[in-house]
Amino acid sequence: MERLCSGTAFRPDPRRSTTQRREPVDPAHRVSIRPIERVDAEGLSDFYAGLSERSRRQRFLGATRPPAAEQIAGLVRTPGVVAVLVDHGPRDGAIVGHASIHPDGSGGGEAAFAVADELQGHGLGSQLMVAILAHARALGIHRLNADLYVDNVPMRCLLVHSGRALASDDIDTGIEEITLDLDRAA
Ligand SMILES: CC(C)(COP(=O)(O)OP(=O)(O)OC[C@H]1O[C@@H](n2cnc3c(N)ncnc32)[C@H](O)[C@@H]1OP(=O)(O)O)[C@@H](O)C(=O)NCCC(=O)NCCS
Repeated sequence: MERLCSGTAFRPDPRRSTTQRREPVDPAHRVSIRPIERVDAEGLSDFYAGLSERSRRQRFLGATRPPAAEQIAGLVRTPGVVAVLVDHGPRDGAIVGHASIHPDGSGGGEAAFAVADELQGHGLGSQLMVAILAHARALGIHRLNADLYVDNVPMRCLLVHSGRALASDDIDTGIEEITLDLDRAA
């Protein structure tokens, strides 16, 4: 069976028009992306609490409950970026996306992504990928890996279309591990 986002074989979901796919995040929801800081703990906690159970399950590979305070404390200490709303309303500054990169100390790093459900599919994940790749370079990371459910097409597309070469792609009991070689273009 042809796999979605296998490099050249990606076919967009027919339910989503090409125009919709290419549009940046809805201008009504302008965002800015910046490095995560320790003071983001409360905002990050709110962000994960507001995600659907489905998205949390995909992000944390099984866990559907919002992360506990200790996990949030760990996440804000982990290098990464957040996407925050730029708004004149009460949600100004709210976190709507998070990408982290956990360095392994020997040139590798594990990445994880999450985007607010209402903004998924509008290009924010791709913007977070650009930011995390720059972050990885600054951290001296050469290989970036991510674990995802095999049916997680958007995450697979994000990785395969990141512009970096695929170093490996392994599947074990429903979980796919994709590793990118950050030193080689795709
Ligand atoms: C995975 C995730 C971060 C992607 O963020 P996003 O903002 O939805 O992604 P984008 O809109 O930038 O789309 C990324 C790619 O996926 C494709 N895509 C997005 N939604 C899709 C869908 N429903 N069906 C098919 N393809 C889809 C886009 O077309 C794009 O492909 P391209 O590179 O060919 O243009 C987001 O969906 C999410 O938070 N999911 C829940 C958490 C999760 O799965 N984390 C991954 C584990 S680390």
